[in-house]
Amino acid sequence: LMTLSLGTVAVLASFNASASCEPGEIVIKFSHVTNETSHPKGIAASLLSERVNKEMDGKACMEVFPNTTLYNDDQALEAILSGDLQMAAPSLSKFEKITKKFRIFDLPFLFADVAAVDRFQNSASGDILKDSMVRRGIKGLAFWHNGMKQMSASKPLLLPSDAEGLKFRVQASDVLVAQFEQLGANPQKMSFSEVYGGLQTKVIDGQENTWSNTYGKKFFEVQDGVTETNHGILDYLVVTSDDWWKGLPTDVREQLGTIMSEVTQTRNGESMRVNEENKQKIIDAGGVVRTLTAEQRQAWVDALKPVWKKFEKDIGSDLLEAAIASNK
Ligand code: LMR
Repeated sequence: LMTLSLGTVAVLASFNASASCEPGEIVIKFSHVTNETSHPKGIAASLLSERVNKEMDGKACMEVFPNTTLYNDDQALEAILSGDLQMAAPSLSKFEKITKKFRIFDLPFLFADVAAVDRFQNSASGDILKDSMVRRGIKGLAFWHNGMKQMSASKPLLLPSDAEGLKFRVQASDVLVAQFEQLGANPQKMSFSEVYGGLQTKVIDGQENTWSNTYGKKFFEVQDGVTETNHGILDYLVVTSDDWWKGLPTDVREQLGTIMSEVTQTRNGESMRVNEENKQKIIDAGGVVRTLTAEQRQAWVDALKPVWKKFEKDIGSDLLEAAIASNK
């Protein structure tokens, strides 16, 4: 590859992304921000495109743009509405600017584990949430799991007071801002692709993310360690334009819908394993992983519980009760 000119490399790269598109096929561009090979979302998007390109050959073709090569999550939502992009899977935290109901997913220590999240998403509440943005032009197609979030920082985090005064990167979510303010820390909204640089240059001291994101983007390399807090969920909603979706020929929409739900089922069943593998890779690479005693963890729960109160009205008591009940 080193002997190729830059121009040739660019042509090869774009050829690769659109290799399977032929004239007459409906082009489906899917943009996301993670890696493709060892990440729950990246693997799912790759499997989705593989199946679409094989099973819908001649009718539709899917090009996947990973690693923020095309858009960050905010830009992707805009691009879907303007018709430049057909699909993306932003994390659920990114939707609060469209509907405040999505704040449910960011409440700290609400969901006990991914299984509880799965039950909630696959209930009537999940269907309501998927359709809640149609009035704004966005249709939710499927919830994809990543996993539970862990916290990392430039110093050991064992008690809530350890976070005091530190600057934490948060996703674009006011709930996550409130969460770190509750700890006496300074939250800063920042896009995913800027986190590594922010940690490295000490613009921020810490961040919260899943094992697959913390390993995949090497955040652990520029942190003192990662504490296994499992304090919240980081999941995704695969979204498209409601107009575009409705405008598809019926057979195309149905086949795409079927492939989407099969890929969702297959990959959601693997997300916990993928995150465990990423956790192990952090340890194998010499990263520090800290676990909390039951007492320490309870201190975090107690410290962060008041955050719920601030958002109960936005979310609605029905939805909150349904989420709590999913922990059964
Ligand atoms: C983040 O912004 O930290 C995550 O939403 C990135 C992702 O897509 O997993």
